[in-house]
Amino acid sequence: MQQPGPIGIFDSGYGGLTILKEIVNKLPQYDYLYLGDSARAPYGNRSFDTVYHYTLQCVNWFFKQGCSLVILACNTASAKALRTIQQNDLPRIAPGKRVLGVIRPTAEIIGNFSETESVGVLATTGTVMSESYPMEIAKFFPEIKVYQEACPMWVPLVENNEYESDGADYFIKKNLRTIFEKGEDIDVILLACTHYPLLKAKIEEYLPVGVKLLSQGEIVAASLADYLHRHPEIESRCRKNGQREFYTTDSTADFDNHASTFFGEKLQSRHVDLDAAIS
Ligand code: DGL
Repeated sequence: MQQPGPIGIFDSGYGGLTILKEIVNKLPQYDYLYLGDSARAPYGNRSFDTVYHYTLQCVNWFFKQGCSLVILACNTASAKALRTIQQNDLPRIAPGKRVLGVIRPTAEIIGNFSETESVGVLATTGTVMSESYPMEIAKFFPEIKVYQEACPMWVPLVENNEYESDGADYFIKKNLRTIFEKGEDIDVILLACTHYPLLKAKIEEYLPVGVKLLSQGEIVAASLADYLHRHPEIESRCRKNGQREFYTTDSTADFDNHASTFFGEKLQSRHVDLDAAIS
């Protein structure tokens, strides 16, 4: 029987920290191991193949660190890599381990927030092109109309600390105008990228009155709590010392600077060279 290990939390960079923050709030007793693949971020405009290969390499690294459960706290990786990893890779490389994403837990409940049966999804180009949200939401709420808008400038604005700049206002107004032109009766807007909660204050300024803004942190945290409750065989393999460790594939100084904004408290990361660590 394998020793219990931390729960792995993965993102292309910092965004997953907005999810980890809510997970730690809800489930502080577990150990968490965070990996941000900042050296290769953003993933949002990359091909399916590239995102899949990068994500699989990171998942393998988590498994090597003793994780039995890994959360892809990145919509782009969840959209482009999760299904292949779950269906093709896991049965071969680690049949007893689990990898979960952030799209399904969101799709399972989003319809409960809409009275007009129209929701807007703001995401990276990769997530929008994958059509994952319309497909997953249709499984749980077939009557809901889903309008999507790719916001390719939002992640770079956040990554470059420009999320309070006039440039951010320009792109937020532009993308919101377009999505409400597509679906006039949208009454719920989902921030379907883990970087976007940092733009929340500005987005709220430009949102039509009465439209609800949803981000995924609390949704994913509640869904993880439920999953662990329903799967004692996985839960028993998750270590519970309340510890957190952070790794980045890029500079730790940059990561630590940015990370506190996303995570809400100061942290110290370590560097990992994935090629050396996996070989
Ligand atoms: N945080 C990622 C997401 O939720 C996107 C960032 C990126 O483009 O790498 O989709």
